[in-house]
Amino acid sequence: MEQVFLYIRENRERHLAELFELLRIQSISADSTKNAETRKAGEFIERLMKRIGIENVRLIETGGHPVVYGDWLHAPGKPTVLVYGHYDVQPVDPLSEWESPPFEPTIRDGAMYGRGTSDDKAQVMTHLYALEALMKVNGRLPCNIKFFLEGEEESGSAHTAPFVVENSDMLLCDAVAISDTAWYSRQVPTIVYALRGLSYMEFKVKGPVRDLHSGSYGGMIMNPLNAVGRIISKLQDEDGHVLVPGFYDDVVPLTDEERREFAAVGDPDGEIMADIRIPAMWGEKGYTTMERNWGRPSLDVNGIFGGFQGEGGKTVIPSFGGFKLSTRLVPNQKPEKIFRLVADYVRSICPPGVSVEAKYHHGGEPVSVPTDNFFIESARGAFAEVFGKRPALVREGASIPITATFVQVLKAAPVLIGYGLPDDHIHSPNEKMELENYYKGIETNAVMYLKFGGR
Ligand code: BES
Ligand code: ZN
Repeated sequence: MEQVFLYIRENRERHLAELFELLRIQSISADSTKNAETRKAGEFIERLMKRIGIENVRLIETGGHPVVYGDWLHAPGKPTVLVYGHYDVQPVDPLSEWESPPFEPTIRDGAMYGRGTSDDKAQVMTHLYALEALMKVNGRLPCNIKFFLEGEEESGSAHTAPFVVENSDMLLCDAVAISDTAWYSRQVPTIVYALRGLSYMEFKVKGPVRDLHSGSYGGMIMNPLNAVGRIISKLQDEDGHVLVPGFYDDVVPLTDEERREFAAVGDPDGEIMADIRIPAMWGEKGYTTMERNWGRPSLDVNGIFGGFQGEGGKTVIPSFGGFKLSTRLVPNQKPEKIFRLVADYVRSICPPGVSVEAKYHHGGEPVSVPTDNFFIESARGAFAEVFGKRPALVREGASIPITATFVQVLKAAPVLIGYGLPDDHIHSPNEKMELENYYKGIETNAVMYLKFGGR
């Protein structure tokens, strides 16, 4: 092990330089003008995988952005671990809020800043470099490895989840190692054992055939953007309860034991309010902050479009308006059913004089996995050896949509061993990843793979 640590430490500079090359690639999966760039990120990883001695490495088409596959299967009798992660990133707007440009990785105060640092490029690299070190030092890997790195996680894995279903033989494994999560707090290394699901949709409200003078027509007709406001205001009541009929029908209620377990992590409100500088928390009445985030579904408008957005004023009634909306789901809610319920409700409350079109974007089912298994135990031990602290086992309010597919189709145990921190600003301007977590993440993964192999 000492030699493996030594190798990793001696190569820190290169591990950072190569990661920076990957971070410079603008692999925004949601932006079709960036399709060629997104593919480049996949090709970069393909080259790296080949270099470290992984076999059968190739980019595979899925109908969306390609997946990168590779394997090393020369450890008979040892478990087979699928390494999952994503090389795509979220859009970067609002650009003016970035202190350094999103695709020019920059180091400040012990952290690297740039889009995709924490989510998920640096985290993906912690696995590649852990396996590189094991291969260099031992000439072999401690267990069987398959790589499955995708390029559309941030767009809902709409092609990659069906790909897993169709290629389950190729991906068969005992466990899935995923580093795409954050710690519960800066001091507490964390293994996540449950993720919420997601249903993402868009509504377009259509009014007059063209934009109109708001004086000549004001008061005569329904303004599509006023209608958007009216619709959104009816999605939740004052107590944060979602008003869509049937929305809660399939929700599995929290047990007393779960409520006790969530309470045991302490009250996070003060820390959260200070970090994001808000004066009060808000959400579904009758539930604590962590209950609402981990164990209850939620609904958020992600963007509103339409009308005049330029400088100064323009007196206009826009011809259309709309909004994008995401719901976070808990067991046993189903993404497409939730879309139908929300769409039916939105149509039913759409004011007269305008019409509404609903579009389903993507979704993923929630997942919650048992924690009393060899793989999670190995990951916990690895965390303890490198960071000197035994990690907490907690849930997460965000989603990694394909995880449920791994559980259902591959019957494999996900190990969500993440190295992000809660203040990494993922999906926001000034995303960062702590250098210490990056370097130690490589070491932790190396220990974890050795433990998987029975060390
Ligand atoms: N890495 C995140 C999930 C995550 C966020 C885990 C925070 C732990 C803490 C992942 O890349 C992500 O953002 N997923 C999306 C999926 C969606 C776009 C389908 C999400 O949750 O919004
Ligand atoms: Zn993300």
